[in-house]
Amino acid sequence: MSNESERMSRRSLLQTSAVAAATVAVPSLVGAQSKVPDTGKIPATKNKTMLGVPFEKHDRIRMGFVGVGGRGTGLLSDFLATGHVDVLAICDIDESHAKRGADMVEKRGQKRPELYTKGDHDFERLCARQDLDVVLTATPWDWHVPVCLSALKHGHHAFTEVPAATTLEDCWALVNASEAARKHCVMIENCTYDNAEMMVLNMVQAGLFGEPLHGGAAYNHDLRDVLTNGYGESLWRRFPHMKRNGNFYPTHGLAPVGNYFGHHLTDRFDYLVSMSTPEAGLSAYVKAKFPESDPKRKEKYICGDVNTSLLKTAMGKTILLQHDVSNCRPYSRINSLQGSKGVFEDYPPRIYFDGGNDEYVPLDKYKAEWEHPLWKQVGEMARKNGGHGGMDFIMAYRMVECMRNGTVPDMDVYEAAAWSVPGPLSELSVAHGSMPMKFPDFTRGEWKKGHQTFLRRPIRN
Ligand SMILES: NC(=O)c1ccc[n+]([C@@H]2O[C@H](COP(=O)([O-])OP(=O)(O)OC[C@H]3O[C@@H](n4cnc5c(N)ncnc54)[C@H](O)[C@@H]3O)[C@@H](O)[C@H]2O)c1
Repeated sequence: MSNESERMSRRSLLQTSAVAAATVAVPSLVGAQSKVPDTGKIPATKNKTMLGVPFEKHDRIRMGFVGVGGRGTGLLSDFLATGHVDVLAICDIDESHAKRGADMVEKRGQKRPELYTKGDHDFERLCARQDLDVVLTATPWDWHVPVCLSALKHGHHAFTEVPAATTLEDCWALVNASEAARKHCVMIENCTYDNAEMMVLNMVQAGLFGEPLHGGAAYNHDLRDVLTNGYGESLWRRFPHMKRNGNFYPTHGLAPVGNYFGHHLTDRFDYLVSMSTPEAGLSAYVKAKFPESDPKRKEKYICGDVNTSLLKTAMGKTILLQHDVSNCRPYSRINSLQGSKGVFEDYPPRIYFDGGNDEYVPLDKYKAEWEHPLWKQVGEMARKNGGHGGMDFIMAYRMVECMRNGTVPDMDVYEAAAWSVPGPLSELSVAHGSMPMKFPDFTRGEWKKGHQTFLRRPIRN
C-alpha cells in the first residue's frame, strides 16, 4: 500500500486535525480530542472471511419476509416476479399489511404463507423455521440488525433494506454473525443496479474514464411530507431527526460510486470528515403545515438539514457524500465521477471525455454500445415488473440468479457494513468539530486479496 493515507496512523490524523483546528481557531476541538473513539479499531475474531464464499445452489428459493409496508410490498412483488421464489412466511406488526402480502403471494398461485403478526419480536418465530433459505427485512431501521442476527443464528441468509445498521457496533455485529453462521448478510442496495449506474460502471471497468479520482454521492430527496404525513414512514423515520446529527442514509449514493472506485477490490474507504448545516427545513415545514395543537410542533429536530462528508480512500481518492431530506429540492443522488480521461455527472446523466468540445454529451448517446449487458438482457422485463424504473427487479433478479447458480453474491456483509457506517461516522465527526473518523476495515485485510464479483471487476486497460 503506497499511498499516504494507509500509512497515516490514527494519532497523526488526530494531530493533523488538531493543527488544522488551531489554525481556524476552533478551541472546542482540543478538549474534544480525548473523547474521540478509535473507530478504525478491528476486533479480534477466529471466524473465517465470507469474502468470495459462494451461495449453495438452489433450484427454488424459499423466503420469509419481515416488514411488508411500502418497501417490503414492492420487494415481495419484485422477488415473486423472478419466478424462482416461494414465499413461505410473512411477518408484520400490522396484520393488514401481512394479509395484503399473503394475498399477493396467493395471486401468484402459491400456497398462502404463514403469518407472524404477534408484535415486535414475532420475527424470531419466523426466523426459527427450518424451511427457509432467506429472511428479508424491510422493517424500520432499528429492526434491521435484530432480524438479520436472528436469521443468521437460525442458519438462513439475511437480506436487509438500507442502511443495514445505524451504529458502528451493529455494523461489526452483522460482520461477525455472518462469518460465524457461514451465511451471507446482503444489504439489498437497489441503486447499485440502476441503469445509469450500471452503464457507467461498465464504462469505468472498460477504462473509458481512465483512473477514477473523485466521486459525488448523495441522498438528496425532499421527504418533508413523507416524514410528517401520519402514515407509513412518518411513523418512525422522523424520530432520528430528534436524536442524531449526520448522514442517516448514505448507501444509495455511496454504493454505486464506491463500485466505480473498485471498492473492496482495489481500494476501500479510509476516513471521512463531516459537517452539518443548521436545521431549518423540517421545523419550518411542520410549523407551516400543522396547527398549533399538533404535537409535532413541539418536536426539536437536531439533525442539520444538509450534511456533507468528504471521504478519503486508501488509494488517496476522494468522494463527496451528502444527505438532505428536509428541504425543497428535486431528487438527486449526485452520482458523479471525475476520472483522468473523462467525467460523468448525473441529473441529468451526461459525459465529457478528453478531447471533447467543452460540452457534455447525454449518457443516452452511449447506450447502444455501453448499456450494461445485464440491462440489455433483462431491462425490458425489469421495466415491466420492477419499481424505481426497473432497478428493483434487476436487483431481485441478481440475488436470485446468484443463489440459483451457487455463485458469490454481488454484495456481501462487508459492503453492508462499509456502505452503512458513514451514518455513525458522520455523526461522530460532526460531534467532534469535523474531525477525521477512520473506517474500520471490516474485511480485516482480506479485500487486498482481490475477490472479484459480478460488480467488483478490475479496470481493463
Ligand atoms: N431501497 C429503497 O429504495 C427503499 C425505499 C423505501 C424504503 N426503504 C427502506 O425500507 C425499509 C422500510 O421502509 P418502508 O418505506 O417500507 O417503511 P413502512 O413504514 O412503509 O414499512 C415498514 C413496515 O415494517 C413493519 N414493522 C415495523 N416494526 C416491525 C417489526 N418489529 N416486525 C415486523 N414488522 C415491523 C411496519 O408495520 C410496516 O409494515 C426502511 O429501512 C427504508 O429505509 C428502501
